[in-house]
Amino acid sequence: MNEPRSTPKHFAPPGARAVGASIPHESATAHVTGAALYTDDLATRLPGVLHAWPVMAPHAHAWLERLDVAPAYHVSGVVKVLTAADVPGENDTGANRRDEPLFPRPATSDGDARPEILFHGMPVAWVLAESEEAAKLGAARVIAEYTPRAAILTIEQAIDAGAFHTDEERIVRGEVDAALAASKIVIDGELYVGGQEQFYLETQASIAYVDESGTMMVHSSTQHPTETQDVVARVLGVPAGDVVVQQLRMGGGFGGKETQANPFASVAAIGAVVTKRPVRVRLDRARDVVLTGKRHPFLGRYRVGCDADGTLRALRLALWSDGGWSLDLSFPVLGRALFHSDNAYYVPAMAVTGRVCKTHKASNTAFRGFGGPQGMVMIEEVLDRVARAVGLPADVVREKNLYREGHETHYGQRVEDADRLARIWGELKSDAQWDSRRREIDAFNASSQSVKRGLAITPVKFGISFTAKWYNQAGALVHVYKDGSVQINHGGTEMGQGLHTKMLQVAADALGLPIACIRIMPTRTDKVPNTSATAASSGSDLNGAAVKNACDVLRARVCEVAASMLGCTSDAVTIEGGVVRGDGRELPWAEVIDRAYHERVQLSATGFYKTPEIHWDREKGRGRPFYYFAYGAAITEVEVDAFTGMYAIRRVDILHDVGDSLSPMIDVGQVEGGFAQGAGWLTQEELVWDDKGALRTPNASTYKLPSLGECPPVFRTKLLERARQEGVVGGSKAVGEPPLMLAISVREALRDAVAACAATGRRGAVALASPATAEQVFWAIQTLREEGRATMPEPIVGVRS
Ligand code: MTE
Ligand code: MOS
Repeated sequence: MNEPRSTPKHFAPPGARAVGASIPHESATAHVTGAALYTDDLATRLPGVLHAWPVMAPHAHAWLERLDVAPAYHVSGVVKVLTAADVPGENDTGANRRDEPLFPRPATSDGDARPEILFHGMPVAWVLAESEEAAKLGAARVIAEYTPRAAILTIEQAIDAGAFHTDEERIVRGEVDAALAASKIVIDGELYVGGQEQFYLETQASIAYVDESGTMMVHSSTQHPTETQDVVARVLGVPAGDVVVQQLRMGGGFGGKETQANPFASVAAIGAVVTKRPVRVRLDRARDVVLTGKRHPFLGRYRVGCDADGTLRALRLALWSDGGWSLDLSFPVLGRALFHSDNAYYVPAMAVTGRVCKTHKASNTAFRGFGGPQGMVMIEEVLDRVARAVGLPADVVREKNLYREGHETHYGQRVEDADRLARIWGELKSDAQWDSRRREIDAFNASSQSVKRGLAITPVKFGISFTAKWYNQAGALVHVYKDGSVQINHGGTEMGQGLHTKMLQVAADALGLPIACIRIMPTRTDKVPNTSATAASSGSDLNGAAVKNACDVLRARVCEVAASMLGCTSDAVTIEGGVVRGDGRELPWAEVIDRAYHERVQLSATGFYKTPEIHWDREKGRGRPFYYFAYGAAITEVEVDAFTGMYAIRRVDILHDVGDSLSPMIDVGQVEGGFAQGAGWLTQEELVWDDKGALRTPNASTYKLPSLGECPPVFRTKLLERARQEGVVGGSKAVGEPPLMLAISVREALRDAVAACAATGRRGAVALASPATAEQVFWAIQTLREEGRATMPEPIVGVRS
């Protein structure tokens, strides 16, 4: 996939630093003109490519009694039907545990020899054909017979049945029972938080072929090329070195392609080996949504103790996540939920436990925030309960409990720059005119019967680093060619988040060249090996430091050569905008490179980086799992119709901390996009399964995504100033995930509007389901009416004749 990448033309003026400049995404023009290619676009360029289609089991849990693929071959164009018998290596694609059969196999636990179906839609065979149409027709002809079995479809059912993927994890600080017993006010509660479909625009896609050297070449829409390489090697039964995975760009990943590209790449690779032809696997939307995992739904049960002024004293929180049929990333996702169930608040005594439930559903996986959002929604729920129990405004109770200098989290990490929380809180409130708007909204609500407005502010504190320590490393490979042109390779993948743009900026400044002289190459496992997933928002921290490392090495070599040409010491040499200067003289970059080549100076370098200082003791539940925290806060105003529950977001103000931004335009895009995606999760996107475990919302027609229509008419995003983060490339902070959780302010603003329907004012609990769809907002108001706290507004009559 070597189509030209359009190099941005509108970047900073010559001589200016590239890092920190607001430049467009390196593929922006290609995105909007359609010139940008994605994995599946390659298929049209490959002669003889075969198309794949799955045969999917219509049961959530069953035995596969009989599989007869012969009838598929009666369809013209069908070349091969892949089943478990075709797997040359291991029939398993599990990334973290070998519990993920690619094709159904007998369960190890119950001794039954029949292959087991573990979720509704599980592929039992893949048909390969000359056209996608033929593959579909062939798949329809495969005969499969099943004996259905009892299925576990909810977290509650899993808890009752004792069906878990993991033991209980826990993080404890202090004597929680004693602190609860000593608390003036104690509140119990429960919250279920729904899942979310990633709904990346580009569905899962893979292409595999054996190249002229005998190498298995895989193009995959994967956030984690190294893991895809490992899994493909495993199912083929070959060493990883026999497999190359390339990733040009993705049309979104959002975590959904961190592990879950692997089975589709594996099917393509097996097909390519068996048929000796290129094989293309590309899911249509409905199959993508049904076959792949989503954000984990969570159930939380809590007991919180506080003072009469709302100061938190103790919290006991138990979490259960719905892991689906296999473990996948559920364990670290749960871990991140436990780490983030404090959000930005100091809880002196805290015990949080969690367990991953095993259900017969698609295997839930990474999704922007990676469990953090679920943990944070729980504590924000708790904060609101506390505020309504003590009768104080929620923003006052939230502010009172924010972390301050010197505090440690419940897992013992010092919150180093905790004062940023208070600073963001104060700056945002004044910038968004919180006080006057609060008064106006209260006055509006006092005079309006059927329409109520709500206002809320919520903070974000999000830990940056993979909690699996070994993942916090990255590599790069930078080549300078004889004519002075430069190629950079790094281990991260581009999914729209702007990682490649930032890497170009970092390389440009590190080498002293204009961005136009540098070309970023597609991510490939034969260029940079043993990479980590592009995830945990750490893509630019890790790869940026590795790219800079390689560029620094090259620059030092070039400076040596230049020094001899200019007659000065290498320390005195500067390189800026492609001009090499020293001792009052200057030389073009290309001339120095030409000399370096002829003097046999190595013009290629690898770079490497590993995050310092982080450590984690799982047994003790103590350590410093995060290199630093990203902070932010958002204020949202909503308007709710008390008759119907229909609502609109009127205004959003965000102040977010990205350190010294590497690329402000990209970062603002990440903040706005993250917020919109979070708002979708908390308010509109509702996954519905039927009682057989079939997903009834597999398409945009039944699954309501946020669109431009739901974006607030007033949407003000600012990046925190004077926010440099030492020790990170360019003084920046990670930005990919943290802003998603700013959307919790939408949920809390809706609750504020619902509460405004109650005559009891701010006192008394206001239950609100998640997602807070219009229907659920209606039921939240209706509950207040049933409790006698609110009345139905007078119907509006006589308005229309
Ligand atoms: N932005 C876009 N446009 N598309 C995406 O798929 N994924 C998010 C976030 N922002 C995503 C995105 C997720 S889940 C993560 S972890 C980060 O980007 C990954 O990229 P980074 O580490 O380079 O920020
Ligand atoms: Mo992001 S959920 O870490 O891919």
